Amino acid sequence: MSAPNVVLVLGASGVAGTHVVQYLERLEGWDVIAAARRPPPYASAAPFVPVDLGDPAACREKLGALGHVTHLVYAAYAEEGATWAEQTAPNAAMLVNAMDALEPAAPGLRHVTLLQGTKYYGNHLGPFRTPAKEGDPRHMPPNFYFDQEEALRERRPGKAWTWTLLRPHFIAGIALGKPMNLVTSIAVYCAISKELGLPLRFPGPPESFRTLTQGTDADLLAKAAVWAGTEPACANHTFNITNGDFLRWENLWPLFAECFDMEPGPVQEIRLAEFMADKGPLWQDMVRTHGLAPNRLEDIVSWGFVDYVFRCAWDIMSDTTQCRRAGFDEYVDTEEMFVRLFGRLRALQIIP
Ligand SMILES: NC(=O)c1ccc[n+]([C@@H]2O[C@H](COP(=O)([O-])OP(=O)(O)OC[C@H]3O[C@@H](n4cnc5c(N)ncnc54)[C@H](OP(=O)(O)O)[C@@H]3O)[C@@H](O)[C@H]2O)c1
Repeated sequence: MSAPNVVLVLGASGVAGTHVVQYLERLEGWDVIAAARRPPPYASAAPFVPVDLGDPAACREKLGALGHVTHLVYAAYAEEGATWAEQTAPNAAMLVNAMDALEPAAPGLRHVTLLQGTKYYGNHLGPFRTPAKEGDPRHMPPNFYFDQEEALRERRPGKAWTWTLLRPHFIAGIALGKPMNLVTSIAVYCAISKELGLPLRFPGPPESFRTLTQGTDADLLAKAAVWAGTEPACANHTFNITNGDFLRWENLWPLFAECFDMEPGPVQEIRLAEFMADKGPLWQDMVRTHGLAPNRLEDIVSWGFVDYVFRCAWDIMSDTTQCRRAGFDEYVDTEEMFVRLFGRLRALQIIP
């Protein structure tokens, strides 16, 4: 007999999707179905559906067979195109293809959780109004979050399902083969600096070292996704979801150095995409000498993504009053989160 809730997680191998699947698998009353193009590289009892969401026919074939789904968590993301504008059409189409296939097939569909992020407010463009509130005006489009949101809003009237939009900021979790993952990237940067006998220097500009920012633990996000799918007050609402505290890299840097038994160094601005481009062979040596899992550097780190995060020289703050007012009072200490996740990366032999 199947559980009362059957959740389909699209993007099940991503940073967010991995933690949503792993969290829901442990929850009583939920059956989980994981989907992406390639099977997730973690052990899971959840059935896996291989599907290319960019292909409407494949969606109809694969998702159209999932008539018992009651909840959808949409955590898929296509990193297609060099610009934000070029990413918009494929990402919008993926959500539409998924809904076109699932909606007629799953009459018991009750809820859709769509992941967005602080880029909704334009945090990637420069300074924006902080703390950002859910009702703040959008930035100048394009932004695929806007198109995906419109697609959901337009198709909901008259339907039994409701939607919730969640807006995290850098999702901190463990996901293999998905390089847009800040925690793994910082850990690898620390490990390589140590291997080269260097102090742990902050590679961004000095203003970014001091600015206020924030993060979202992927496990916290997973809890928020379950809350969104089960709490009536979340129906057709949007929530910022962050750890609840704020950080400055300058305050975290000594902790990172301590975690890797290194000396914290001063700021020395370099583009990691340029300076780490030749570190593949060094990483392969480290894999051998430290007995690490055989990951290629480019499969676990995207230096361009780290450069982007470390070069945001403006405050990034989300107001989380709205989710707390609606009953989600979970929080995470971001310093403890980094220590815990570095420990998990070590236990998985991803870093020395
Ligand atoms: N990562 C962050 O720090 C962060 C921060 C704030 C907001 N967000 C938002 O959160 C959402 C999820 O991001 P994420 O970082 O978890 O993404 P991610 O790690 O890049 O994972 C993307 C997932 O989508 C799947 N996918 C990509 N193209 C697909 C396709 N054509 N068909 C089926 N599945 C496909 C991938 O698996 P396959 O490649 O195997 O298909 C993977 O499972 C995005 O909307 C992102 O903007 C992320």
